[in-house]
Amino acid sequence: MKKEFLISFDTKNILSTHTDILIIGSGVAGLCAAIEAAKYAKVLIITKDKLQDSNTEQAQGGIAVVLSREDSFKGHAEDTLRVGSGLCNEEAVRILVDEGPSRVQELIQWGANFDKEGEGLSFTQEAGHNMRRIIHAKGDATGAEIEKTLILKVKENKNIKILEHTFAIDLLQKNGVCFGVFVCEKEGKKVVYAQKTILATGGIGQIYRETTNAIVATGCGIAIAFRAGAKLMDMEFVQFHPTTLYIAGAARMLISEALRGEGGILKNKYGERFMNKYHEDGELAPRDVVSRAILREMKKSNDTHVYLDITHLDPKFLENRFPSIMRVCFSLGIDIKKDLIPVRPTAHYMIGGIKIAMNGETNVENLYACGETACSGLHGANRLASNSLLEGMVFGFRTGFSVGKSIGSGGRVKDVPEISSIMDYGNSKDLDLDKEDIKNSLKSLMSRHLGIEREGKTLLEAQEKIDSWSSYVMEKEFSHPKAWELQNMLQIAKLMQKAALIRRESRGVHYRKDFPKQNDSEWQKTHIELSKDKDFESVII
Ligand code: SIN
Repeated sequence: MKKEFLISFDTKNILSTHTDILIIGSGVAGLCAAIEAAKYAKVLIITKDKLQDSNTEQAQGGIAVVLSREDSFKGHAEDTLRVGSGLCNEEAVRILVDEGPSRVQELIQWGANFDKEGEGLSFTQEAGHNMRRIIHAKGDATGAEIEKTLILKVKENKNIKILEHTFAIDLLQKNGVCFGVFVCEKEGKKVVYAQKTILATGGIGQIYRETTNAIVATGCGIAIAFRAGAKLMDMEFVQFHPTTLYIAGAARMLISEALRGEGGILKNKYGERFMNKYHEDGELAPRDVVSRAILREMKKSNDTHVYLDITHLDPKFLENRFPSIMRVCFSLGIDIKKDLIPVRPTAHYMIGGIKIAMNGETNVENLYACGETACSGLHGANRLASNSLLEGMVFGFRTGFSVGKSIGSGGRVKDVPEISSIMDYGNSKDLDLDKEDIKNSLKSLMSRHLGIEREGKTLLEAQEKIDSWSSYVMEKEFSHPKAWELQNMLQIAKLMQKAALIRRESRGVHYRKDFPKQNDSEWQKTHIELSKDKDFESVII
C-alpha cells in the first residue's frame, strides 16, 4: 500500500512549534551544520537519544586529511578514487580533499586535541592510503574528542536549541516541499515547522545482527526522506569493517584498522598469516578484500572468527596508542600485549543514502542531508578508511552555510499547508506483535543475504521474507518509537535488497557470487537511484 506517513494526524489539531532551521541528528555532520547555520538563523537540533549518542562518538581510527608537508591533495584524491572502484563523484572528492584541512584547523581552534609527534601532528596509516595521513586523538578515541568539542561549541551558542529523546516520525511534506517534521517527544507528539530541514541521522548498521554502529543507527532518516519523496542512491553499498572484537556475549566493538596500519597481522585458527594469499597489500588491502578473505578463512577452518596479532609491537607504544581498545579487551580477559585478539567482520558504514548536491540539497524543496545518511557519490563503491569524519565536517559545514545563507532569521514558516494523514486500520491498530522478534529476524536475514557476499537467489529469498513481514508490520499504526523504528528498518531493508539485486556485477563492497567480476562496460558510472515516484508500488508493500 502507498504509505506516506506512519501514523494518523492532522496538523490542525496538534501542538506546533517553529524554527528557522531544523537539524535531525547530532553526530559530526549535524553539529557542524548547526554551528555554521547558526551564524545566520535560529537552529533547533533534535536527536532521538542523548546528544552524544552517534556513530561519531564511537569512531576510533581518525581523520584522513592533507596536513603533513609530504602529503598532497592529489595523493588523497587518488587514493579515494582508487578505493571507490570507478564510481566516485570526482567533484565531491575534490571538495572533501581541498576543504578538509580548513575544517580540521577550525576544529583545533575550537579546542580539539589531536595527538602530537614532536611539534607537529602524529599521522597513522590505514588501508588504501599511499602514506601516513590520518590524525587521531587520545590514541584511539578520535570520534569522542570531536563530538566533545562540537557539543561544547553548540551548547555555548545562543542561536542553537537542543531537543534530546525526540523521535522524528515523518517529514511534513506536501507537493514536493518540506515544511518540517512530525515528532514524538517525552510530552507527546508535536509538529516542528522549519524553513529548512537538514537530515544528519547517520548510518544503518543496526539493521544487521552485528555492527560497529551505535544503537541509534537504524536508518530512520533515510526512511523518512524516502517517504517524503527524496531520491536515494547507491543503497547496495554497505561497508563491512574486517576487524570487530568477537567474544560471545560482549559488544561488537571496533578494533581499529590503525592496529593493522601500525603492523598488526591477521592469523587464522592455525596461527597462519593469510592476507598475503589474497592481496599484494596484505593486511592493508581494501576493506572489502580483507573482509572476504576473513570470511573464507573462517569457512575453511570452520571457526567463528580469525585473530589479530599485535603482540610483536612495543608494549609501551600499544599502551599510548590504543588505550581504549586495550582497556576493553583487558576487561574481557584479553591482554593485547600478549594475547591474540579474536575478530570478524561486521556492518560498519552505509555508503549510499539520500541523494544530495554538493550543498546538501535533495530533490525535495527545503530538505537537505549531510553525513552518513546522505549520498553525494563521494565514496563511490567503497569508502577510503577515515574519510567519513572529514566528510561529516566538510559537507556538514557546506550544508549549514548554504541553508543559513538562504533564509532570513526570525520569520515563521510561510504558507504552511494543512497536512493530514488519516488511516483506518480498525482492530489491527497497534496489535500485540512481537516487534523484537521481527527485528531480530530481519537483522539475521540481512546478515545472511545482504552481507559481505550476495547472490541473486538469496536476494530473492530476502525479498520474499521482507515482503511478508512488511505485509503485516507496515499495515499497522503503532504508537511507540521502537515500532516506528522497525517499520523504518523494514523499508530500508527492502530498498537495499532491491538495489543489490539490480546491480548484477561486483564492485567495491558489493560482491555478487553470481556476478563476481566488475563489469565496467555496463555498470561503471551507473548509480542506482530509488524514488517514491518511480518505485512506490513495488517498494512499499
Ligand atoms: C577504524 O578505526 O578502523 C575505522 C575508521 C573508518 O571506518 O574510517
